[in-house]
Amino acid sequence: MLSSVSFTSFALLLFLVHAQDQSGFISIDCGIPDDSSYNDETTGIKYVSDSAFVDSGTRKSVAAQFQKIGFDRHLLNLRSFPEGKRNCYHVQTPRGKGFKYLIRTRFMYGNYDGQGGAPEFDLYLGVNFWDSVKLDNATTILNKEMITIPLTDHVQVCVVDKNTGTPFLSVLEIRGLLNTTYETSYDALRLERRLDYGSISDLPFRYKDDIYDRIWTPRSFSSPLSEFKTVNTSLTVDQGFHNGYQPAPTVMSTAATPRNESQSMLLVLKPLDPNAKFYAYMHFAEIEEFKNNLTRQFDVWVDNTVLSRFFKPRYLFTDTVSTPEPVSGASLNFSLYQPTSDLGGFVLPPIINALEIYQAIEFLQIPTDPLDVDAMRKIKNRYRVEKNWQGDPCVPVEYSWEGVECIQNDNSTNPRVVSLNISFSELAGQIDPAFSNLTSLKKLDISSNSLTGNIPDFFTNLPNLTELNLEGNKLTGIIPAKLLERSKDGSLSLRFGRNPKLCLSASCQNIKKKKNGQIILLVALIIGIVIALLTAIALFWHFKKRKQRGAVGVRNGPLETAKRYFKYSKVVNITNNFERVLGKGGFGKVYYGVINGEQVAVKILSEESAQGYKEFRAEVEILMRVHHTNLTSLVGYCNEGNHIALIYEYMANENLGDYLAGKRSFILSWEERLKISLDAAQGLEYLHYGCNPPIVHRDVKPTNILLDEKLQAKIADFGLSRSFPVEGSGQVTTVVAGTIGYLDPEYYSTRQMSEKSDVYSFGVVLLEVITGQPVIASLRAENRHISDHVNSMLAKGDIKGIVDQRLGEKFNAGSAWRISEIALACTEQRSAQRPTMIQVVMELKQIVFGRETDQENHGDSTKLITVNLNSEEAPQAR
Ligand SMILES: *[C@@H]1O[C@H](CO)[C@@H](O)[C@H](O)[C@H]1NC(C)=O
Ligand SMILES: *[C@@H]1O[C@H](CO)[C@@H](O)[C@H](O)[C@H]1NC(C)=O
Ligand SMILES: *[C@@H]1O[C@H](CO)[C@@H](O)[C@H](O)[C@H]1NC(C)=O
Ligand SMILES: *[C@@H]1O[C@H](CO)[C@@H](O)[C@H](O)[C@H]1NC(C)=O
Ligand SMILES: *[C@@H]1O[C@H](CO)[C@@H](O)[C@H](O)[C@H]1NC(C)=O
Ligand SMILES: *[C@@H]1O[C@H](CO)[C@@H](O)[C@H](O)[C@H]1NC(C)=O
Ligand SMILES: *[C@@H]1O[C@H](CO)[C@@H](O)[C@H](O)[C@H]1NC(C)=O
Ligand SMILES: *[C@@H]1O[C@H](CO)[C@@H](O)[C@H](O)[C@H]1NC(C)=O
Ligand SMILES: *[C@@H]1O[C@H](CO)[C@@H](O)[C@H](O)[C@H]1NC(C)=O
Ligand SMILES: *[C@@H]1O[C@H](CO)[C@@H](O)[C@H](O)[C@H]1NC(C)=O
Repeated sequence: MLSSVSFTSFALLLFLVHAQDQSGFISIDCGIPDDSSYNDETTGIKYVSDSAFVDSGTRKSVAAQFQKIGFDRHLLNLRSFPEGKRNCYHVQTPRGKGFKYLIRTRFMYGNYDGQGGAPEFDLYLGVNFWDSVKLDNATTILNKEMITIPLTDHVQVCVVDKNTGTPFLSVLEIRGLLNTTYETSYDALRLERRLDYGSISDLPFRYKDDIYDRIWTPRSFSSPLSEFKTVNTSLTVDQGFHNGYQPAPTVMSTAATPRNESQSMLLVLKPLDPNAKFYAYMHFAEIEEFKNNLTRQFDVWVDNTVLSRFFKPRYLFTDTVSTPEPVSGASLNFSLYQPTSDLGGFVLPPIINALEIYQAIEFLQIPTDPLDVDAMRKIKNRYRVEKNWQGDPCVPVEYSWEGVECIQNDNSTNPRVVSLNISFSELAGQIDPAFSNLTSLKKLDISSNSLTGNIPDFFTNLPNLTELNLEGNKLTGIIPAKLLERSKDGSLSLRFGRNPKLCLSASCQNIKKKKNGQIILLVALIIGIVIALLTAIALFWHFKKRKQRGAVGVRNGPLETAKRYFKYSKVVNITNNFERVLGKGGFGKVYYGVINGEQVAVKILSEESAQGYKEFRAEVEILMRVHHTNLTSLVGYCNEGNHIALIYEYMANENLGDYLAGKRSFILSWEERLKISLDAAQGLEYLHYGCNPPIVHRDVKPTNILLDEKLQAKIADFGLSRSFPVEGSGQVTTVVAGTIGYLDPEYYSTRQMSEKSDVYSFGVVLLEVITGQPVIASLRAENRHISDHVNSMLAKGDIKGIVDQRLGEKFNAGSAWRISEIALACTEQRSAQRPTMIQVVMELKQIVFGRETDQENHGDSTKLITVNLNSEEAPQAR
């Protein structure tokens, strides 16, 4: 975990070092004069001519009437491809292979050919179909984007003629992305939507606002009739630090939220293809400042799957919630629901700042073997072959190169070039060494050209070569002896006639070239020094950056703190000089107290505990911000010398442990037990998923589950165990070992407590609630753990034998079965097999309230208001 974090920041840093000068960028303005370039006025992006990336097509400009009405400059020129079925751009990626890139093409027809047409053609990324390009009229602007990790160090972008207008390309852009963002098991992500909610500018944001130059389409809700309103801030979101996605701060500084504060949001996308799979990335940042008792918290769902519970956008910091797996369907519903459970205080409606949706793409076509592709490209460039040699040599078959034959052994291997015929093609110069890399070649025909020089030795190394035709050239020197041998033994059909200067005998001489080893050495040395320098600079910035980050501290509200801080003398006063002891908890005694007429429970930490306690204030500050109906709230604290006190809300009926142990005058009914279990589960769920950072309780047990006068359960004693020493253990370590019987068995081997440790402990509590028996009872044979006991009874089908005997017949067998199963799932030995608290809560809700509909699970669907994602995006002029 740690290493991955530091890797990310280092990668980020490397990127930053380069990004300022756009070195992760390739920006090609198709159709401007060869080898020219310019800096775009609005974005500062440096666009270069396409002449180095394409060897076909003609340069064109949009019609005069569109030249001066404010379209982006890079849309005013284009390259048109009137000839050939398929034409391709070939671009080296800025950082080589293994990196993730965003590849964008842009199209504007602009009536460049005076035909007033509406061309339609296909776009390919390498050998795979990317999208259809359909221009409605002269000023329609289309953006097509793909995110992928290319398997080679270059990408090919091809346009394919469908006889419905001449293909062309206006802009081709490549942007390096962080490897750790937009992760997918698919081959690529094709952009579907990228929206800037609540935009107040009506213009799309891109570089330099967005360091990855994503183009954000504005979505504003300025009409007073809209059910949504815009919120905005003039402060900078993500200043100084950020997540990997890093949407433009200008995009994040605005958001949409329901006008009516008791409503939730539903974002609906109705895909054209219900089988298409989509990933969504929702970017959230809190941009409103509000008072203490206000919070904004919501659940993020896609269809019937929860993506995040109790999601709380952080103030001026971007958090991205995404779908871990792609989703599909006739309608994709992204819902932002206000939570159903009472969080205390007043909850504001959900917001959304930005949204991206991508379609997951599988590349079905496998490109030709990279070695063959490389060799074929070298041959093409060396001899300037004038054929339809564009894109991949073999794939797709209908566009394969003239004179090239390929074979694919099975569907999972790359096709190989097995036959190459470039006779009568005016090839001149020597036979290129690149031929030697076409190792699967069976037939090679380079006859009737003007090739000069020797016949190279390497032909003898092509294992499968059976036909070689060199006739009708200007070759010189001797024919390699091995070739002649193979020709004689009949394994090779060799033709070399009509080469007047070719000798059959050894009388001809070769000239050897000198190699200049010294220069190579010198170059290597210089490169080495440059790399070392760059690394040093990068490290320097890395650490400098870290320092700066460290300086961004948590802001403490001194006034707020003062209200909840009590002097020790005041604590003495509140408890009336520690008059009444309520109980003895994990870290000291708990006393009864009264503040302004409100009853409170005051926990005084034993001196022993207090000494080992570090970071008291920081932790208490976190705990004071945790509010949930099923958690005891901390109302104040005292920290004066050795006197540490924590002041909690008062709970009348005290703890669940006493009830289970029969220390009370009545026993809890079955229904009460179910309800208490659900309450406690919701409290834990909130600690795990509603708090940032998540809080692991570490000591879940019945005595830490308090009950109020209505028997509503609240979890107590959370969040402190981390920095308190164990009472009575004599050690001043910060490790807490929980309580025997409730402790996660994995803890013994890993020494790590996680959310799943709480799930285990909660499972044990459930078992106690069901059986009314203590966790380890001497009555049971061999002091077996309660889970073994329940397991064996359940295996016998004896549900009556499991449930607390004191209840007699007064329980529901169906719910007893189900809750026992949940409890056993929670107490699985291996943490990975235990459910999460989210799942436990869902199951318990179904037991307590009967089977719920999905909508009830979500929240109140009558309060939902809808944003339609299908309305056409209108591309903007600038
Ligand atoms: C990026 O991720 C791919 C696989 O997802 C991996 O092959 C490649 O090495 C990674 N590149 C870097 C620089 O980490
Ligand atoms: C061109 O087509 C777009 C849709 O692609 C449409 O929004 C726009 O109004 C059209 N413009 C003209 C001048 O017809
Ligand atoms: C939000 O935008 C409006 C309109 O541009 C502006 O008047 C207002 O000051 C902005 N609010 C904040 C908090 O920046
Ligand atoms: C999505 O929401 C629409 C209402 O806008 C509803 O008709 C549809 O059933 C929902 N689909 C799913 C899968 O929840
Ligand atoms: C929030 O606090 C303000 C002032 O502190 C108070 O007037 C208001 O009633 C409180 N609202 C709720 C819902 O507690
Ligand atoms: C290869 O793919 C084709 C079409 O995609 C399919 O018909 C054929 O069965 C596949 N062959 C193998 C060996 O998988
Ligand atoms: C290569 O092409 C030429 C003409 O295009 C043809 O005459 C010749 O037979 C071909 N060679 C082979 C080996 O097929
Ligand atoms: C043949 O391929 C190798 C890579 O496997 C490459 O290093 C070499 O330069 C290639 N040879 C020629 C002559 O292109
Ligand atoms: C040569 O041909 C054999 C038989 O067709 C095949 O198994 C082998 O893979 C080929 N070698 C190369 C380098 O393609
Ligand atoms: C706000 O929404 C709630 C729930 O849908 C509704 O009961 C209430 O009437 C709405 N308030 C206004 C002012 O529209």
